[in-house]
Amino acid sequence: MPSPYRAFQISDGVFWVGARDVSRRLFDALIPLPKGTSYNSYLVVGRDQVALVDTVNPGFENDLIERVRSVVNSGGLNYVIMNHAEPDHAGAIPLVLKEFPKAELITTSIGAKMARIFYCVPEDRIRIVKDGDVIDLGGKTLKFLEAPMLHWPETMFTYLAEDGVLFSCDFFGSHLAQGLWDDEVEDVLLHAQRYFGEIIMPFRSNALNALKKISSLNIRMIAPSHGPIYRNPEKIIKSYWRWASGETEEKVAVLYVSMWHHTENVVKVLADELRSEGVNVVIHDIAAADLGDIAKDLVDSRAIVVATPTVIANAHPLALHATYLAKLLKAPANYVALIILYAWGSAADKQLIEVLKDVKAELVGVVKINVALSEKDVESIKSLARELSTKITGLSAVAE
Ligand code: FEO
Repeated sequence: MPSPYRAFQISDGVFWVGARDVSRRLFDALIPLPKGTSYNSYLVVGRDQVALVDTVNPGFENDLIERVRSVVNSGGLNYVIMNHAEPDHAGAIPLVLKEFPKAELITTSIGAKMARIFYCVPEDRIRIVKDGDVIDLGGKTLKFLEAPMLHWPETMFTYLAEDGVLFSCDFFGSHLAQGLWDDEVEDVLLHAQRYFGEIIMPFRSNALNALKKISSLNIRMIAPSHGPIYRNPEKIIKSYWRWASGETEEKVAVLYVSMWHHTENVVKVLADELRSEGVNVVIHDIAAADLGDIAKDLVDSRAIVVATPTVIANAHPLALHATYLAKLLKAPANYVALIILYAWGSAADKQLIEVLKDVKAELVGVVKINVALSEKDVESIKSLARELSTKITGLSAVAE
């Protein structure tokens, strides 16, 4: 029976042979995937040799192998290029190497150690490449570019010179199961921003180095390992320069928890005042929010406000969770502020300040409110909003 799987040609002799995980809803036991994700894998067919760039998540090996076999037979694959050792791209390597016995694994020196530890790849099937090394498949030249910490230490990109295709693995990715091309996806840059916030933002300086490194290449297509392929790469490259540089907007991300609507009401006062000052405000109820949406807004928010009630005199655990997330993702915000609602005592401000000190943003203010919102409290909140607004817009004026 013929295989139902096929390979999709994306350039002359270059095929998408990956898998779409439409129903997956969580990544790293942390990141929601409302649109599923894809594990893109690519086959590059030269005159003399054939290379597979990255593989797929365990469980999707059959999709990959059948798609590859629709182009080459078992003896026809010469190289498996492991741009990144994380299992969503490398998990199928053991089976691919078994099914294609001639294939050699190509990776960085750190990648080679990981291939041995994670996937038990024997030494004699690994070829280590260094930054700038090339393999000529016959009219298809693959150049390897080290790109450490994008997203693990072993990461590299592969550039196909003749076609101007950059295989960038996680870099330029987005968690989307649908859409082969960027221009087939609505709001593609918003999905990319969300992914940047979740995966790349903690490594902004590495991202800048990678952008500088690829700036001399003639990139006509970016083929990442998640989400659509960019056949119009200019906009995503421009956005990455902005996000990697930590360029923020006149925008405040308000992350709040509310148990009896008191904190929610305070947040409304703050948001109205900020908006009246012309500042963009995005509000996330942490108890209901999608963490990916929060990560997306942390990418370009100039200020973060955390508002929490106290639970047993401590910060609400969800407020600590969101604050820890901002620290972990290395949000580029310049300013932070806290709003604490308490009943009989609170250590919440100290706890949150302890987490936020690593965000390296200026603490503009801490407003503590004893349950009911008094006239004085309303004025304190409005005053905090005005102070934030002055600083946020002042920074824009300095930049001009
Ligand atoms: Fe998509 Fe870091 O793996």
